[in-house]
Amino acid sequence: MIPAMPANRIAIVTGANRGLGLEIALQLMKADVFVVAGCRDKAKCEAALEALRSVGTNADAMPVDVTDTRAVKRFVDQVEKQHGSPSILVNNAGIYPESTTARVVDTPTSVWRETFETNLFGAVRMCRDVVPLMRKLRFGRIVNISSGLGQIHQMGEGSPAYRVSKASLNALTRTLAAEVAGSGILVNSMSPGWVRTDMGGEDAPRSVEEGADTAVWLCLLPSNGPTGQFFRDRKPIPW
Ligand SMILES: NC(=O)c1ccc[n+]([C@@H]2O[C@H](COP(=O)([O-])OP(=O)(O)OC[C@H]3O[C@@H](n4cnc5c(N)ncnc54)[C@H](OP(=O)(O)O)[C@@H]3O)[C@@H](O)[C@H]2O)c1
Repeated sequence: MIPAMPANRIAIVTGANRGLGLEIALQLMKADVFVVAGCRDKAKCEAALEALRSVGTNADAMPVDVTDTRAVKRFVDQVEKQHGSPSILVNNAGIYPESTTARVVDTPTSVWRETFETNLFGAVRMCRDVVPLMRKLRFGRIVNISSGLGQIHQMGEGSPAYRVSKASLNALTRTLAAEVAGSGILVNSMSPGWVRTDMGGEDAPRSVEEGADTAVWLCLLPSNGPTGQFFRDRKPIPW
């Protein structure tokens, strides 16, 4: 049986108080999706909600630090209780605590750990709590916000913890997509390109609108859409 799209689409977007996460949330709201913005603390939730309510009332914001296993569980439970099961998950929260000149040999273990706690384990935690709910819905769209810096086929030097964390996030996409195949849940990675945000800086060539587009497209894929793939500008790219 082909899983039907749930009548009320509920999306979780992590790190949605600024940058790409906020823009993805806004674009989903415009597509009539109810968005729950996951933000690190209550003050950031209030700020995010104010920004989101500028385009509609189909949004809420709740605190979650994706590095905290219990906080993620509490957050997902609260989303389900207050709004219903999420059918869309965007693992967007990410950090880049290195310079482009950082090298493997001079990157302390603490930086590797910090980067992986957010960029990989944050997504793992969210998936672990959200996938069982999507399985019950027999429908789900999971979008992992990755990076061209995580592409193994053109892996270069610099920012090693960030690069390896995003390559690992891509591996998570592949293995989870295989695990849930046939369940109505589609799991994909995307690269937004170099985008003008706090992380990307003001010299980046892309706007947040351009950077968010492919993520939103993946959130709204039809049932016969792709899974276990990596995209930029709505086109598959090599891992
Ligand atoms: N900008 C680019 O050029 C670019 C390129 C490729 C990939 N990306 C990826 O795109 C995603 C969004 O990046 P961005 O450019 O929008 O970055 P950004 O402006 O720095 O925003 C990052 C967001 O993630 C949140 N976050 C970080 N750690 C968190 C945690 N532990 N728990 C909850 N939220 C957390 C931040 O919250 P706070 O406000 O609380 O810090 C913020 O909302 C990231 O995964 C990034 O790696 C960006």
